[in-house]
Amino acid sequence: MTLIIAIDGPAASGKGTLARRIAMHFGLPWLDTGLLYRAVARDVLAGGGNLDDVAVAEAMARSIVAGTLDDPALRGPQAGDAASIVAKIPEVRAALLDYQRAFALQDGGAVLDGRDIGTVVCPQARVKVFVTASDAARARRRFLEHMGRGEDVTYDNLLADIRRRDARDSGRSAAPMLAASDALHLDTTELDADQAFEAVMRLIHERIAGS
Ligand code: CDP
Repeated sequence: MTLIIAIDGPAASGKGTLARRIAMHFGLPWLDTGLLYRAVARDVLAGGGNLDDVAVAEAMARSIVAGTLDDPALRGPQAGDAASIVAKIPEVRAALLDYQRAFALQDGGAVLDGRDIGTVVCPQARVKVFVTASDAARARRRFLEHMGRGEDVTYDNLLADIRRRDARDSGRSAAPMLAASDALHLDTTELDADQAFEAVMRLIHERIAGS
């Protein structure tokens, strides 16, 4: 049985943690597709380029390889903000599509999280979940995450970052952040990580049983 699970949602909604735990549960590989956009932005800036330079950003997207994704520098708020700028470029999205689809089509399936997995990358996914949480809950979680790594951040800056990125991600014309019409919805505002995982597993089992 091939099981492709698409987890989408706005910044810091908890989709990455959920995707990782779902993948572990089913013994499937997991791809955090946000890392691809973060790495493209990193590479553009490292080469001295501008984030909105289509030719440079596309060239970087074409040369992204999985090995360069395991980079702690990709996890910061600046990397996320820069990612959302290159993510608006259709040529960048197209260049990253084959890699994501090949990952999804592995034997047995895969779990992918992002913004357009259920709508564009894997419209055929057996299970699609769109994860949300209030702005305040998302900023609080991200704040605790960064503080835990000893990073110098403020709640207000993280909240502003999340709102700016959400607006960019939903407002762009190329593959905007959107729940697929057949996505299951999960609001994690009032849930801790374990409760969110239990809730998403209930939804997934219902969907699998009904399909
Ligand atoms: O972890 P967080 O939700 O903060 O962000 P991320 O998933 O790492 O994504 C960083 C940025 O990459 C997003 O704000 C989007 O602009 C872009 N992205 C995208 O356009 N499509 C995806 N499938 C994944 C990420």
